Amino acid sequence: MSVVLGIETSCDETAAAVVDDGWRVRSSIVESSIDQHRDFGGVVPELAGRAHVAMIAPVVRAALEAAGLDVERPGLDAVAVTSGPGLIGSLLVGLAAAKAYALSWDAPLVTVNHLEGHLYAPLLERPGLAWPLLTLLVSGGHTMLVYQRGPGDHEVVGETIDDAAGEAYDKVARWLGLGYPGGPPIDRLAGEGDPNALALPVSMTGDDLDFSFSGLKSAVVRAGERRPDLAPADVAASFQRAAVEQLTRKLRRALDRYEVAGVAIAGGVAANSALRAAVREIATSYGVVAHVPSLALCTDNAAMIAAAGLARFSRGLVSGLDASADPNWALADVL
Ligand code: KG4
Ligand code: ZN
Repeated sequence: MSVVLGIETSCDETAAAVVDDGWRVRSSIVESSIDQHRDFGGVVPELAGRAHVAMIAPVVRAALEAAGLDVERPGLDAVAVTSGPGLIGSLLVGLAAAKAYALSWDAPLVTVNHLEGHLYAPLLERPGLAWPLLTLLVSGGHTMLVYQRGPGDHEVVGETIDDAAGEAYDKVARWLGLGYPGGPPIDRLAGEGDPNALALPVSMTGDDLDFSFSGLKSAVVRAGERRPDLAPADVAASFQRAAVEQLTRKLRRALDRYEVAGVAIAGGVAANSALRAAVREIATSYGVVAHVPSLALCTDNAAMIAAAGLARFSRGLVSGLDASADPNWALADVL
């Protein structure tokens, strides 16, 4: 049995997890420096990097202990770590730590693309799922549709041409004074508002599978300024309706084009209640299985990195100790 430690430090979460090749999550620890960033309306790279330096060793130790492993000699088959995309100063902390652990435990190092990691969240809960899959990967930095033939075999078939969906949530929340990150408070508030209060355009209604969210954010701000009487809950509900409508419209278009056994969602925005409900409905109407991961596996975590690392390790894709971080590593460039 192979056992892999995963380390994730691409943004504000310092995370470590142990996963085995039965796709079982033996432990998953996530610490976040989010409280230090709230006042700034976004993640401050220098603060995130410093927090990772302080947290990485205790978080790794906690993950090993929770998995019942010896923290001095855990007997791991590999150490997997996110090496991009993300904040360079944050990525380097995790990568340096992973190299040190790999060297001292004499375990191979496996570098993992953060977005590929997100694609493993559904697999961790349904190891025997049927392929192929269409996955809507929606996070703070990325929005894409991915056609997956199997683990590690994926093709990006649609992508945002400007902002990511999560970025739009964060910007609208900031404008509404709801703080950072914006997804959870907008999601909550939307439940109390009228989704038809503001007539907002659904962008990108063409035949392609690409997305655009910068226009939607501007439309919300313009419409909100025209009608200052509008309740924040109505603004949130109207925005959420338009955002989810764009995402699901493209998912349906992709399902018309690709023959798949299931649809999945992944990334922080996959925690959104309206999107989760809509994707389940779409799957039912297309007669495919919906893979909607639990909330803790949608947002950044190291279990998904350990899982991706495990799959790469089993294909012999190990890295040298001279591996470098790439803050702009595209999913399409993952080998
Ligand atoms: O995947 P993630 O944790 O980090 C990145 O890799 O970017 O995604 C974070 C993003 C943020 O933009 C946050 O506002 C959004 O996910 N998010 C949500 C929800 N929970 C988190 N967006 C909409 N609804 C939510 N419930
Ligand atoms: Zn992420």
